[in-house]
Amino acid sequence: MRMEDKICVVTGGARGIGEGIVRKFAQEGAKMVFACDMNINEELNKVENIRSVKLDVTDRDAIKEFVDKVVEEFEKIDVLVNNAGITKDALIQRMSEEAWDAVINVNLKGVFNMTQFIAPIMIKKGKGSIISTSSIVGVFGNIGQTNYAATKGGVISMTKTWAKEFSRKGAQVRSNAIAPGFIKTPMTEAMPEKILNSIAEKVPLKRMGEVEDIANAALFLASDESSYVNGQILGVDGGLVI
Ligand code: NAI
Repeated sequence: MRMEDKICVVTGGARGIGEGIVRKFAQEGAKMVFACDMNINEELNKVENIRSVKLDVTDRDAIKEFVDKVVEEFEKIDVLVNNAGITKDALIQRMSEEAWDAVINVNLKGVFNMTQFIAPIMIKKGKGSIISTSSIVGVFGNIGQTNYAATKGGVISMTKTWAKEFSRKGAQVRSNAIAPGFIKTPMTEAMPEKILNSIAEKVPLKRMGEVEDIANAALFLASDESSYVNGQILGVDGGLVI
């Protein structure tokens, strides 16, 4: 029961990696896990300590209202996982301003929004763990992903900034990121099989990652076992980036 008594907020928690993290935290005894997403996942609501909540990470008014309600009911938030993310890929010559803005708004500003409302609650309590989902693309770039790479690189910079900023007055509020490699989720299912196979071939472990692989990393960073880990970018990619 590594998450006993913890109140957790996971964005993009209705499916894919986010859903895996939500279920993992709940299994490990979290008091409540909020799966915040554009969509409700009714299956999650069947689990006693999970609440599927409709929340758009770009809607600052809705975030404030949600956070106020959680604090009113539980008086704290221990863990924030900034996981919601989208892709709108194109070579820069063909990338529309709309595609640039949309990805920046969700993947970068959404992380800023959620953290800006939740970090002060953690700082006040003197403890907390913020985990943001970057990507290997944020470190090494990727053809067709100017917008996405910019956001995932930005997540790394914000993660390191917050590791310094939130603990200034001795608060044990940690900020870390996970940089997944290629993980089997609805996001990557949209990619052509030929490309997925060629990627798996390049991974030293010769396979794509599972949602469970990322959920386990998130569990470590959320739990007190990582209480001296701060400002780190944990690669979970089968050794693709070394
Ligand atoms: P996914 O597309 O399966 O799930 C993303 C979830 O985020 C969806 O449920 C979606 O409704 C939600 N979402 C989208 N916009 C939102 C918004 N404005 N507000 C709230 N929720 C919103 O994606 P997946 O694969 O599970 O990815 C999760 C995170 O991991 C993303 O940040 C992604 O960039 C990152 N990642 C994924 C990798 C992969 O191979 N699957 C690799 C590296 C990073």
